[in-house]
Amino acid sequence: MKVPLLDLKGQYSVIKDEILKAAHEVFESQYFILGPRVESLEKEIADYCFSKYAVGVSSGTDALLISLMVSDIDSQNTVITVPHTFFATVGSISRVGARPIFVDIDPETYNMSPEGLERTIDAMPRAELARLKGVVPVHLYGQCADMDPILKICKDYNLVVIEDAAQAIGAEYNGKRAGSMGDFGCFSFFPSKNLGAFGDGGIVTTGSEKLYEKLRMLRGHGSHPKYYHSLIGGNFRLDAFQAAVVSVKFF
Ligand SMILES: Cc1ncc(COP(=O)(O)O)c(C=O)c1O
Repeated sequence: MKVPLLDLKGQYSVIKDEILKAAHEVFESQYFILGPRVESLEKEIADYCFSKYAVGVSSGTDALLISLMVSDIDSQNTVITVPHTFFATVGSISRVGARPIFVDIDPETYNMSPEGLERTIDAMPRAELARLKGVVPVHLYGQCADMDPILKICKDYNLVVIEDAAQAIGAEYNGKRAGSMGDFGCFSFFPSKNLGAFGDGGIVTTGSEKLYEKLRMLRGHGSHPKYYHSLIGGNFRLDAFQAAVVSVKFF
């Protein structure tokens, strides 16, 4: 018997009626982008992740990108991450113009090595250290990176922490959940992920009201109120249909 690595059809057959009902509601409402379905998903995900706020976005990649943009990380900066991840982690750092610096993973967990992080920062010349602005630990294999020492180092050096939790929704670390420990938690709803949509989608969690407001602004081309653009953002909006699908799977 052939057992597929991923059986999305099997999963769909169990939830088909609920999905069709949710899709029908979205189509009937003709409210396709953001709106009440996205807002209720944001509340559900924030609560589940033990985080104060969540902002639905267009993909896990865009969750990383918007978090870097909200942090004003640009070509003047460097950002530390791990090489053992999906391309999007490093690609997003490069896309805002920053230079990625790699630290190795822990051979036990395959996630960021806190000792490696400390060694890399200690070895930085002063000018390089001045450019360093953020750290992106990646949580893989159902576990979180060893966040306590990572957070301590980041606090000591005043670094923004962007958790790449694209594959880690619900993963726990010392009573905390992935995405609630750093300044931002970035999740992907790519269909094959632990919690997948029927297309692209993602969400960013944060505990900071200020960052939450800026995330919401940059998600819609930096506008607030509507059509008043005081910042340059992008179109990082989440579709109502994707939010409805994720909500069905979530319960
Ligand atoms: C670790 C990691 N980061 C980021 C991403 C990007 O997510 P998305 O495919 O939703 O853009 C993925 C998923 O592909 C991932 O596995």
